[in-house]
Amino acid sequence: MNSEGRDLSRRAFLKTTGAAGLAAALPLLLPSCSSMAQGNRKSGLGPRPPAVPKNDVRSHTDGLRSLAAKKGLVLGAAFSPGVFKKDPEYGEVIAREFNGLVAENDMKLDVLQRVRGQFDFGPADATMAFARQHGMNVRAVPLVWHDALPAWATDRTFPREEALGILRDHIFTVMRHFRGRVFAWDVLNEGLSDKGPGLREEGPWYHSIGPEYVEKVYRWAHEADPQAMLFYNDYGMDGMSEKADRCYQWIKELLARGVPVHGIGLQYHVQLDKHPPLPEVTQNIRRFNDLGLAVHITELDVWLPKNATAADLQQQAVIYRGVFEAALAAPKCPAVFLWGFTDRYSWVPGISGGTCDDALIFDRDYRPKPAYEAIASVLR
Ligand code: GLA
Repeated sequence: MNSEGRDLSRRAFLKTTGAAGLAAALPLLLPSCSSMAQGNRKSGLGPRPPAVPKNDVRSHTDGLRSLAAKKGLVLGAAFSPGVFKKDPEYGEVIAREFNGLVAENDMKLDVLQRVRGQFDFGPADATMAFARQHGMNVRAVPLVWHDALPAWATDRTFPREEALGILRDHIFTVMRHFRGRVFAWDVLNEGLSDKGPGLREEGPWYHSIGPEYVEKVYRWAHEADPQAMLFYNDYGMDGMSEKADRCYQWIKELLARGVPVHGIGLQYHVQLDKHPPLPEVTQNIRRFNDLGLAVHITELDVWLPKNATAADLQQQAVIYRGVFEAALAAPKCPAVFLWGFTDRYSWVPGISGGTCDDALIFDRDYRPKPAYEAIASVLR
């Protein structure tokens, strides 16, 4: 496994085992900028480290969104209606700069079905309303995941038929609710094992149903909304990693069996010293495109060590630039989504235990960073 894969498995490990498990495994998981993480993945609100050095980058007059639109690109960001409610500037900036939106947490199972069988679309509908008001394209994530589970599904194995019923009902109810208003769905998120080969076994679905749950959820999603673009989304496979190879083979087999998968989402959470070489990213996108699949960059952020220097910010800009160059050069990579847009509300300080920060393109005071200008220059 390459360094990208190793680092991101640590992240997944943090998600599932928390700090206690991490302490036991620290010798194996040598950090670059994350070590004693507690993981505050729900709110994304981490401690407030010192501001990054000031810069004099200005926002493009019409925002990045007009530049992106001219290139036919959906440029999106993760959005939280709760944050918007208390911080109107958050809404102004995202609406000015982005033509795409993804709900940061509000379309996950733990929000949509906190109580089993009672669907709560309130927060997700607030996101949809914001997107509609500002003419933004919505990606929906994720229908099926081993994480972000409500209490009634956490640490559970259900009888097989019951688990099938839960997933089927969830997929049909949710997809029909949003039908026609979403341009791409992540049907399954992070379904592949990090250890390889095969599927991830954490969470209730694999154990309750067996590996065939994957095929079933894609077929149901297609039945629920035959027009919908259905994606598989994962991390640690942005470049030509071992996991990306496994994903490629697996998706190829699913397609050969007629499973309706239409696209691959590359999460693209990377760090300054752990990111795939650009030619590999290009090659990876192209091989999925050659299978007839679209590729989206779905959760881009570039983590800096805490107390980032001006040089770190410049290096971050180079990485952001590269991702956009790769997307524009690809035969079919029409969407790039960032996991947030301002360091004020990023999930990175929380998940990295405060060792990483400043991963996005606006600082805590909504000042554009060099990465902003780098993206603008690629889109111009
Ligand atoms: C994963 C998921 C996202 C989000 C982030 C962190 O990458 O795919 O939906 O939960 O973790 O918030």
